[in-house]
Amino acid sequence: MSNRGSFSNKLGFILAAAGSAVGLGNIWSFPFEVGAGGGAAFLLVYLFFCFILCFPVMVTEIAIGRKTQLNPAGAYEALGFKKWRILGLLGIISGVVILSFYNVVAGWAFGYFIELLSGHFEIGSQFSTFIKDVFKVGLYAMVFMFVTAFIVSKGVSGGIERASKILMPTLITMILGLVFYSLTLDHAFEGIKFYLVPDFSELTLSVMGNAMGQAFFSLSLGMGALITYGSYVGKNDNIVTSAAFITLADVGIAFIAGLMMFPMVAYLTDGTMEGAGQGAGLIFTVLPGAFESLGPLLGVLIGSLFFLLLSFAALTSTVSLLEVPVAYIVDEKKIKRNRAVWIMATIIFVLGIPSLLSNGYSGFFSSFITYVGAENATSFMDFAQNVANDTFLPLGGCLISIFAAYAWKTKNLNEEIALGYPNYMGSFIQKYLNFAVTILCPLVLGTMFLLTLLQTFFGVTLF
Ligand code: PHE
Repeated sequence: MSNRGSFSNKLGFILAAAGSAVGLGNIWSFPFEVGAGGGAAFLLVYLFFCFILCFPVMVTEIAIGRKTQLNPAGAYEALGFKKWRILGLLGIISGVVILSFYNVVAGWAFGYFIELLSGHFEIGSQFSTFIKDVFKVGLYAMVFMFVTAFIVSKGVSGGIERASKILMPTLITMILGLVFYSLTLDHAFEGIKFYLVPDFSELTLSVMGNAMGQAFFSLSLGMGALITYGSYVGKNDNIVTSAAFITLADVGIAFIAGLMMFPMVAYLTDGTMEGAGQGAGLIFTVLPGAFESLGPLLGVLIGSLFFLLLSFAALTSTVSLLEVPVAYIVDEKKIKRNRAVWIMATIIFVLGIPSLLSNGYSGFFSSFITYVGAENATSFMDFAQNVANDTFLPLGGCLISIFAAYAWKTKNLNEEIALGYPNYMGSFIQKYLNFAVTILCPLVLGTMFLLTLLQTFFGVTLF
């Protein structure tokens, strides 16, 4: 076990886990999900899921990882529950699917860095042509996967930890600067209103389902990424405060990304907010125009730096996504780490090709499937997101709670948490976490999972 590596200290783990959580989920998909979900109503549900339901799942994942020091599949088995291995495998598969399309979007972000570096602000209006250019985007995605694999092959503390430490604080500073700038733009107020004043008529089941999926995706939960990272955590660390920090950092960054985006959308649409619901292209179509308005020099500087840092944020997430299947084959199949890394990276890159082709290049993958009752076809990439983010992750979160409460038992969960948290037993947080894993999470996540599954894929709306 000793050559699995470990984080050098508590801060190293927190930063790496926060690096996993903070990524395209916060800056790319959060704003477009808010936009498509009608604004503030989505935001409220999202916050509810993050703090009330996801937080207990996060503590549980880290505790399982630290207890067993294993990958997700091995972890359940090591605790004495062989049948639950399947839950670990579901997580590993989710990770592989997510990384396959995530890497393509990371390629877009990296490509935008290059475009803006050369002052090509028109790229915003040419987004749909850009993503169709599969050779160019494919090359960027390949570079991205290569760098990811390189870092993962360097091991836990050398690569993953070091990369997270400098880049995250720089990105946050940069977004905050852009928030101030965007608040000075014309119509900024309309954007803020859209983002922060809820219109409850927008609150449909599918908006709630998307908010749930987005919460799990953004917090890197439900697939065992944090079981894997938890397996590298020291026994004296306080899991609860670490999880609280990770959740706050992740939600905080998503929130300020929204503050940055919506005034810009308002500015570019004269306050109408039309196009806020356009989906995956939102930041890529909106931001270049806003950067251009900073003037040629500052625009190039800030614009390219922004997309460079976004690429780095994505990188600390792709690293954690790749680490999950790698830890699995290193532990279970006894393959050397280095080989495991390059084999998995190649497989996942190839699995990402349908996503790459599904943005206009191939008709087949662009209109891959039409859900029952839906008007339009869904692309392969959106389908993969619906399956992994909105379905597998919440299901995984629900089952992890059920596992902790009814198989492993809350007593053992509590003991593991208490190792690094002397006053834990009998505290309010202990009572809350136990209530959440035994009742709240299984019930709410299970129900939401079934309802959104029926609605998204089969067009059945029960209420
Ligand atoms: N949380 C990451 C993001 O927001 C994505 C991710 C999901 C990473 C699941 C690991 C596991 O970009």
